Amino acid sequence: MKFADLGAQFQAYEEEIRLEMDKVLSSSLFINGPQVEELEDALSTYSGAKHSIACSSGTDALLLGLMAKDVQPGDEIIVPAFTFIATASMVAFYKAIPVFVDVDPVTFNINPLKIEQAITAKTKGIIAVSLYGQCPDMDRINAIASAHNLWVMEDAAQSFGAGYKGRMSCTLSEIATTSFFPAKPLGCYGDGGAVFTENDEIAAKLKVLRNHGQVKRYHHQVIGINGRMDTIQAAVLKVKLAHFNDEVSLRNQAAERYSSMLKDIAEMPVIAKENTSTWAQYTVRVSRRDEVRQKLADKGIPTAVHYPVPLCRQEAFAYLGDASEYPVSEALADSVLSLPMHAFITEEEQVRVVNSLKEALDE
Ligand SMILES: Cc1ncc(COP(=O)(O)O)c(C=O)c1O
Repeated sequence: MKFADLGAQFQAYEEEIRLEMDKVLSSSLFINGPQVEELEDALSTYSGAKHSIACSSGTDALLLGLMAKDVQPGDEIIVPAFTFIATASMVAFYKAIPVFVDVDPVTFNINPLKIEQAITAKTKGIIAVSLYGQCPDMDRINAIASAHNLWVMEDAAQSFGAGYKGRMSCTLSEIATTSFFPAKPLGCYGDGGAVFTENDEIAAKLKVLRNHGQVKRYHHQVIGINGRMDTIQAAVLKVKLAHFNDEVSLRNQAAERYSSMLKDIAEMPVIAKENTSTWAQYTVRVSRRDEVRQKLADKGIPTAVHYPVPLCRQEAFAYLGDASEYPVSEALADSVLSLPMHAFITEEEQVRVVNSLKEALDE
């Protein structure tokens, strides 16, 4: 059994993918080939975002977003304490200060009630992560931000394709970023990402920043990065995007099956009523997590822990000297367990996962 079965997905679209990759190989347009812009148009059509700017990874998408907002050393940026490190490390990389906020115990997303307490005169923005595939309460976060004159960025690395109050993830704040890391719900065959915005000026800035700050060949207006997406990755994503709606439906069906089978067995994920999820992860909470995980591994069931250490406890952030408490993030880090989840998982496989989990918990 696979945790995320990329092989099954490749088999399903192999002919189309090889054809599109071949077109890139024959054209030799490996950088800035036409497929990149075609993908950007398709991403906008899918998500409803006015501007989609393809880039080299979800991490670079965050960095480009921070550069576009002209973040300065010493600026404070609010981030959830429980997420993948890139959300906060790009802030720190830019010599700004990540300020952690604890997460909601039900959705595991940044807790809007705690954001206001973290705002100081130095705060410039909030990065809200859509963890495991569901959005945080973005209307509430945007309202807090606008009351304090802050910008909001959605780190939608796990939620491209998710819904919030009938709108799509990646259109819910001034800037949004996503990742096309291979195991993401929409993944390429290497690294890839995108930045989304409704703002024409920011979109123009992002395109320049993504290509060394270049406005004309070898004329550099600002300091930028090489944040371009490879044409081959755009070609792969174009094919996968055409099948993405079906995959999101299949992931939702798989999640429903898990939830119906796991009642009374483990603490299941809760999707807020205003949300639809892409189920980037199907993550339960169990006690004695590491022991249970080992027992599942012994039975051939692959699982993952997203994430075993909250950001507030990461060695890399020790220099911040942050002595605050983040009880929800700490408790989640000790108890979350992600089960195999992908569009091609079968009911039989899910029954095996659930039975093995039940046995492991009962032992
Ligand atoms: C919440 C979050 N932010 C950022 C990233 C970084 O994306 P990438 O791996 O494409 O750089 C990830 C990827 O795992 C993520 O889950």
